[in-house]
Amino acid sequence: MAVTRTFSIIKPDATRRNLTGAVTKMLEDAGLRVVASKRIQMTREQAEGFYAVHKERPFFGELVDFMISGPVVVQVLEGEDAVKRNRDVMGATNPADADEGTIRKTYAESIEANSVHGSDSEENAKIEIDFFFNEDEIVG
Ligand code: CMP
Repeated sequence: MAVTRTFSIIKPDATRRNLTGAVTKMLEDAGLRVVASKRIQMTREQAEGFYAVHKERPFFGELVDFMISGPVVVQVLEGEDAVKRNRDVMGATNPADADEGTIRKTYAESIEANSVHGSDSEENAKIEIDFFFNEDEIVG
């Protein structure tokens, strides 16, 4: 299986509860390496741009408000089949549907405040990584 990259966000509900390390440990224990990481306060423009694919959805406004409500940690993760590996350890979008042992089952507060974001395909991973990182910030 090829070593690939995915993009992750530790969301404001998790940074607010000081869970950056706990979430990162679950990612690492799942076989992913953090090859880039920075804690940022997203601007409204960044959040709207990042989630533009959802802009017609009824939850878009609240999602953007939530994503700028506090700091986030954006990360590039590397590992074998990284997109799937990350999605497996994150668990379902809605924590009520997430499997035991996943990040969202363990830490998420709601479908919106669901602690982590992860790319849903390798194609989107590349787009999302490029949205927040320059290549020279990624050190494998
Ligand atoms: P994420 O993987 O970051 O992608 C879009 C986000 O929208 C999702 O996680 C949730 O945090 C948020 N969201 C809020 N309400 C919903 C909903 N009803 N369905 C899907 N995603 C939602």
